[in-house]
Amino acid sequence: MTTPLRIGIAGLGTVGGGVVKIIQKHGKLLAQRGGAGFEITAVSARSRNKNRDFDVSAYAWEDDPVAMSRRDDVDVVIEAMGGEDGPAKAAVETALAAGKHVVTANKAMLAHHGQAMVELAEANSACLRYEAAVAGGIPCVKALGEGLAANGMTRVMGVLNGTCNYILTTMEKTGADYADVLHDAQQLGYAEADPSFDVGGIDAAHKLALMASLAFGTKVDFEGVKTEGIDRVSLEDITHAADMGYRVKLLGVARMHDHGLEQRMQPCLVPVSSSIGVLDGVTNMVVCEGDFVGQTVFTGPGAGEGPTASAIVADLVDIARGVRTPAFGVPAKDLVAANRATSLTPTAYYLRLALKDQPGVLAQVTDALGKSGVSIEQMHQNANGGPGATVLIVTHETTRDALDEALTAFEASENCLAPPVSLRIETV
Ligand code: NAP
Ligand code: HSE
Repeated sequence: MTTPLRIGIAGLGTVGGGVVKIIQKHGKLLAQRGGAGFEITAVSARSRNKNRDFDVSAYAWEDDPVAMSRRDDVDVVIEAMGGEDGPAKAAVETALAAGKHVVTANKAMLAHHGQAMVELAEANSACLRYEAAVAGGIPCVKALGEGLAANGMTRVMGVLNGTCNYILTTMEKTGADYADVLHDAQQLGYAEADPSFDVGGIDAAHKLALMASLAFGTKVDFEGVKTEGIDRVSLEDITHAADMGYRVKLLGVARMHDHGLEQRMQPCLVPVSSSIGVLDGVTNMVVCEGDFVGQTVFTGPGAGEGPTASAIVADLVDIARGVRTPAFGVPAKDLVAANRATSLTPTAYYLRLALKDQPGVLAQVTDALGKSGVSIEQMHQNANGGPGATVLIVTHETTRDALDEALTAFEASENCLAPPVSLRIETV
């Protein structure tokens, strides 16, 4: 057994606290697995006096995480503070510049600075690892970077935000209000510091951008992810989708086409009985498709203390073992900037329209859709007792452009009471 790996942990919240607990509980096992003991030498958080359900009194305390990164008795920095810039970025850059390894759960930071950080890491022979940043406890970074390394990847997709999946499934099961369920997710430690990152699809888009880079050998392009959140999905959408045999999921898809890289994160309808349709609560799913392996599917808890800390400590074990795989699958200098692309493949859509309830309005809708070449597969109208009615439509396969043309034409009408909601029906 070699000398212990000396660890500094910046951030002692849900994730950092979980890491402390695992290392305190499984010290012997981890030393056997890693071939070196794990010794926490220093920690940093905002408040030294905060009550925590674990003991850090044996470790040196640093108010400043950057000072912690500089310490001579820290070989590996775990960054579990969050935030794309500020102290998290400074602490990581300080560690990497000094040739220290970094393990982070911070997908926001990597989505914005991943390329620069991996270049810095490689220039200083340091390791940058981020299993916890993508799909919590699911070892999908390892799968893409190592287990599937023989393949040309064709598509990666998944349900990548536990908070959104928790909200959507709990609303469907209990009929509970969106705001109440979001509050529960925050209490359970799933949600981001700014929960609009979760419900706005941004957090999941950060993760998709990292997975796409790893899968396709491209530079991380978060701005290239077409992102839509679940904030406009109503209980009505969820229950009507269920009536028609679908579930609403916030689904991310990255696909390499001949004309470029498509990356999108948006609420979609998927068949109730599909592998993605059955996902409950905070569970995530990652689907990776390669030219030789075909489709592989990974599922597990995507957020929370235990799963996220489990992923961080697995990265530590790899570092202790001397595993040095490139952060995004290939050396930083070989990552290419992909053209941005959208899918040209037609698909079916679910539409929810808020209309005036009066003669001729429905005809106006079908006319607008017909003129753009969009054909209707199912249609339901619910009068709401007042002057309005909700019309729910499932279309046959159509292009997004054709649908947008019809919806834009209809939205301009005084009979349209609110912007139409349209959700893609995804084949999974
Ligand atoms: P959290 O519970 O809010 O914890 C954040 C920690 O960082 C706290 O201990 C806080 O100190 C500390 N901190 C914040 N600003 C600091 C500063 N300027 N200097 C020193 N310490 C500072 O957050 P979390 O849920 O653990 O998330 C941490 C990171 O993991 C984020 O990047 C998040 O996206 C990522 N992540 C979270 C999950 C999850 O399920 N929660 C899953 C995957 C990835 P105090 O404790 O003193 O306030
Ligand atoms: N807020 C994130 C989620 C944490 O709900 O999935 C895990 O990245």
